[in-house]
Amino acid sequence: MAIPTQAEIDDKLRGEDLNSWLDLWRTEQGSAKPAALKLIAAAIPFPIDQSLRVLDVGCGTGDAGRAIHSRFPHARIDSVDRNEFFVSLCGAVNRRDSIGGRTWVGDLSEPDWRRDLASGYDVVVAVNAVHWFSLASAAVLFGDIFQLLRSGGVFLLMEPAGAEPPFAPGFDAWRKQQPSQHNYEDWRRFWSRVNALLGYDYGFLGEPDGQNRIGDGLSALQWVGLLTDAGFASIDILLRDPEKVVLASVKP
Ligand SMILES: C[S@@+](CC[C@H](N)C(=O)[O-])C[C@H]1O[C@@H](n2cnc3c(N)ncnc32)[C@H](O)[C@@H]1O
Repeated sequence: MAIPTQAEIDDKLRGEDLNSWLDLWRTEQGSAKPAALKLIAAAIPFPIDQSLRVLDVGCGTGDAGRAIHSRFPHARIDSVDRNEFFVSLCGAVNRRDSIGGRTWVGDLSEPDWRRDLASGYDVVVAVNAVHWFSLASAAVLFGDIFQLLRSGGVFLLMEPAGAEPPFAPGFDAWRKQQPSQHNYEDWRRFWSRVNALLGYDYGFLGEPDGQNRIGDGLSALQWVGLLTDAGFASIDILLRDPEKVVLASVKP
């Protein structure tokens, strides 16, 4: 079966209950995520009536962009992801909710992914997307994001994180005893429904199977180091829980 075109996916989604798709994804993403998204939106240090230009990279269903829009109702949210189904779903929900901005298919690991984009974004957000990259390509991506922001613009990031090497074994053992945020069955349920709707199997659940991806192997301070190397300043760890870290930073 050929990979469906964007128009075919848009068409299939037209008759669907979009909220039930968002619910299915939210269930898969775990109960701690909505509060973390609210924190990301709350931390943005700009007036709420400002017409912010926001870019959500690796947007998936678009939850992060919409969390920001719910605090900044005049924000324009641009959203990019390599997965065609996510792009269709995110675009359909944003249109339904009258959220301005563009949603498009793009591979952030391709050198020209930001070719058609004007720089000068006020905010870039990345949620659970960069850990799919290798360390080297994440460093390149952070450099690209730095270029896209205006001076004074902010980059917010939420990614899985482990501990520094001396503490990693103990941290990992402790983490295994914490209530899990993710359930394989919820992941399978989401992607089985995608496959049933499209008549197409995205293989390993729509994700690249990169051998050397970051995964949860970076500590919070290693994420900070990547941001520092890209030129970001005022870097802060806003949240650290058993699974993830939420970081905020400014382009000087
Ligand atoms: C776990 S999902 C998170 C999606 C969304 N940010 C959220 O929080 O719901 C990871 C997303 O990163 C996207 N992604 C991974 N590698 C990518 C790449 N090279 N270019 C664009 N998107 C990518 C995937 O397609 C997927 O939508």
